[in-house]
Amino acid sequence: MQKRGTFITFEGIDGCGKTTQMHLLGERLRASGHPVVETIEPGGTEIGRQIRKILLDARNAELNDRAELLLYFASRAQNVEQVIQPALARGAIVLCDRFTDSTLAYQGSGRGLDPEPILELDRIACAGLQPDVTVLIDIDLETSMERSRNRNQRLASAETRIDDESAAFHARVLAGYHALAQKYPDRIIAVDGRASICSTAQAVWQRIASRV
Ligand code: TYD
Repeated sequence: MQKRGTFITFEGIDGCGKTTQMHLLGERLRASGHPVVETIEPGGTEIGRQIRKILLDARNAELNDRAELLLYFASRAQNVEQVIQPALARGAIVLCDRFTDSTLAYQGSGRGLDPEPILELDRIACAGLQPDVTVLIDIDLETSMERSRNRNQRLASAETRIDDESAAFHARVLAGYHALAQKYPDRIIAVDGRASICSTAQAVWQRIASRV
């Protein structure tokens, strides 16, 4: 399939505010006349939503690391073929809440899985599709833990299997993101997520506007 649009992914540790920032960027791009499609990983398709339930259900504590890894890619393979590639072929800007950098950070750095097979699975699941730009919303660990705790209590969320991991796990994920940002400086834009929603959105816009 011919790719014509722009593929932008949003990344960061839990509670960083990437979902809010992605919606705000989507609104701003639409207001400037761009066709925009927003999607999410895991999820984004009906099959992806079913896979997401398995992945995030706090009762599935026995899910092993390799099964978890494959399920994240199963959701992504479906989303790439059913939603992302067709939208890019139509010339849309596709915004995706998490993508393979999440797998490198959480399953790679967090769980300690080898990154090479993760990249090989990425080639299979995404058929060579890679983000043009990735916005990394960067916050510190304390803010992350506090925000996700508050949100999970407020929403009485059952999707807490990963949030419930130890502080040491989340610290490894954060370090993994910083290593990715260093490794791919042309693709990954890091934006400070500790400022207000409004000023973070402005910083995202300033860095993105020239690239769409
Ligand atoms: P998300 O819905 O973005 O949750 P949050 O809003 O709390 O950040 O993502 C769900 C969880 O899945 C999140 O804890 C990160 C985790 N995850 C992985 O471990 N690997 C992956 O490849 C992806 C896409 C997400």
